[in-house]
Amino acid sequence: MRVSIIGAGNMGGATALGFARFIPDVEVTATAKHQETLNRYSSSRIKTTLDNCSAVKEADLVIMGVKPWLLKEVLTPLLPFMEGKLLVSLAAGIPAATIKEWTDGQGIKGVYTVIPNLAIEIGESMTFINEIFGTEETRNTVTRLFKSVGEALMVDEKRLGAGMMVASCGTAFALRYVRAATEGGVELGLYPKEALQAALQTVKGAAMLAEAHGTHPEQEIDKVTTPGGITIRGLNAMEEAGFSNAVIQGLKIWK
Ligand SMILES: NC(=O)c1ccc[n+]([C@@H]2O[C@H](COP(=O)([O-])OP(=O)(O)OC[C@H]3O[C@@H](n4cnc5c(N)ncnc54)[C@H](OP(=O)(O)O)[C@@H]3O)[C@@H](O)[C@H]2O)c1
Repeated sequence: MRVSIIGAGNMGGATALGFARFIPDVEVTATAKHQETLNRYSSSRIKTTLDNCSAVKEADLVIMGVKPWLLKEVLTPLLPFMEGKLLVSLAAGIPAATIKEWTDGQGIKGVYTVIPNLAIEIGESMTFINEIFGTEETRNTVTRLFKSVGEALMVDEKRLGAGMMVASCGTAFALRYVRAATEGGVELGLYPKEALQAALQTVKGAAMLAEAHGTHPEQEIDKVTTPGGITIRGLNAMEEAGFSNAVIQGLKIWK
């Protein structure tokens, strides 16, 4: 399968790198506005071009990675070459009805909004997919691709925003926890490098443990909270400072 990514910036570029690394039967082409952006891919097996039309012509599936406010402007001249192909938009916040209106009547086989996260580059994305229109075959194709670079869930449009907040913006939220833990570790006496290594490895280990056991986080938390001990005192101090509430409030800004 040939995949062309129109606008290989942060998210489009991470997707290009993830597909090229983890899906051997996919040929990836990336485009951008400036050659310097494309130079980033010179050591990978990604083909690059500044010509969006030629990239679309040679693709089976086209991924639009431009900013949401550029989507219509960049997509419109490409539509005459989209017949019989699949279209994926990475743009957050553009209603399905709007994308359907732009793409209707072009003979496109299936259109999807897909929200991955930056860990797609290392094959560890949590991706949410909403079908704007398509068939079982196109649905399977899109799902297979994104499941090859992490976990992927198909959701209705109403739940796409929630998925984006938890998983896509969630990368930043999780890393902000890592930053805070690093700063706290330094105040307690670790060197910055040691504190960062400890925070990253601990978050990774905690996530892998809960996933491996299939447990609710609180079950794992119970195992490390000795009555009257320092872990429960630390947790309660964090809650007093608004930890859970801060996370929930941050997620709810989408509403
Ligand atoms: N960042 C995330 O975590 C994330 C997560 C999920 C979804 N998204 C979505 O992904 C999309 C892109 O966001 P981003 O953060 O990756 O933005 P970005 O880093 O600015 O990337 C956008 C890319 O589009 C390119 N571009 C602009 N005009 C173009 C044109 N006419 N033809 C071809 N390429 C063009 C730019 O090229 P140059 O670099 O050469 O200027 C740039 O590389 C957005 O719709 C966003 O909602 C982002």
